[in-house]
Amino acid sequence: MITILNDDFSQLNDFLHEKSFSKIFILVDENTHEYCLPTLLGNMETDLGFEILEIEAGEEMKNIQTANQLWEILTEMQADRKALVINLGGGVITDMGGFVASTYKRGIQFINIPTTLLSMCDASIGGKTGIDLMHYKNMVGTFAFPEQIFIFPKFLETLPFKELRSGFAEMLKHGLIADTSHWNQLIQIQKLEVGTVTPHIQTSMNIKQEVVEKDFHESNIRKTLNFGHTIGHSVESLCLQQGNPILHGEAVAMGMISEAHLAYLEGLISEDDSKLIIENIQRYYPYLDISDFKDEDITALLMNDKKNTDSKINFSLLTGIGSCTYDHQCSQKNILEAIHFYKKLNDL
Ligand SMILES: NC(=O)c1ccc[n+]([C@@H]2O[C@H](COP(=O)([O-])OP(=O)(O)OC[C@H]3O[C@@H](n4cnc5c(N)ncnc54)[C@H](O)[C@@H]3O)[C@@H](O)[C@H]2O)c1
Ligand SMILES: [Zn+2]
Repeated sequence: MITILNDDFSQLNDFLHEKSFSKIFILVDENTHEYCLPTLLGNMETDLGFEILEIEAGEEMKNIQTANQLWEILTEMQADRKALVINLGGGVITDMGGFVASTYKRGIQFINIPTTLLSMCDASIGGKTGIDLMHYKNMVGTFAFPEQIFIFPKFLETLPFKELRSGFAEMLKHGLIADTSHWNQLIQIQKLEVGTVTPHIQTSMNIKQEVVEKDFHESNIRKTLNFGHTIGHSVESLCLQQGNPILHGEAVAMGMISEAHLAYLEGLISEDDSKLIIENIQRYYPYLDISDFKDEDITALLMNDKKNTDSKINFSLLTGIGSCTYDHQCSQKNILEAIHFYKKLNDL
């Protein structure tokens, strides 16, 4: 259940009153501690005792050591099975906090209060929790639903612009795979800022929620959410390996451009549609210089993708603006051509 909070957080307070929790544990990182926690505490009305659990900000914290520390703190603070964890933060906090809560004492209840655009529209929804293992993202985790997701869009006001733009890529993806009118509305936005993005958050969240409800375990339609992520993930990993990490949404934007062209090469969409998609994504995202990346390095990572079966690369590709297919296997020639297309895009 997703609720957009009023300024007085009354729906959250009602929720806390209705349920008989024993204690509240609020998980934050250093930034959400500074920028979001004061608003939450200033509006939260409850007689329950609460503790603040803070971790450093960043993906590097999403690991078993941090999970272990949090399990230990919960134990030392005698969190019982009626304790509630409130995850106040971006996707790192909602993934990590959901994982810790869903495993502590075989599972205690948690709610998500996402504070980045990416976590509002994507990470906090869908019941996937997890941590990274070695350099593999989200290798260990659980499927576990938060009791509630509360959205307070004003939290976005302190979010750095690049983080806002990163989350916007997932919103564009939701339009492209499932809802033409959402896409059409998003591309009307001239300047990306909190005020122009906020009116579209709910539609984007609903798209993700509906897809997940139809296919929780990702055996069919949930795979469409991976559009842009096959090539995007490879480039994200290569940038990381080279010591120049990029934001997830920046990689997804790049991936959606290449994979829109790939859909055209595979005969799934018209050239006009692929051009329209690509031109619009380019309006928001600067060109990513991948000229140094070797084809074989990119394709080696594509071969490693979690979505693959029988050593074939499975793509989720658009079949129009607002529709998407999955488990589509492309010719090697077209995959390379789609990557080369992106490499040359800046010269056009
Ligand atoms: N579970 C899922 O289905 C799912 C889906 C997509 C992504 N994810 C995961 O989400 C993570 C990425 O999420 P993210 O982009 O939100 O990253 P994040 O949680 O690292 O947040 C990005 C940065 O913004 C800061 N921040 C958060 N809210 C803020 C605010 N209101 N004001 C100022 N700064 C703020 C954070 O401290 C951090 O530095 C990845 O680990 C990814 O694997 C999970
Ligand atoms: Zn994504």
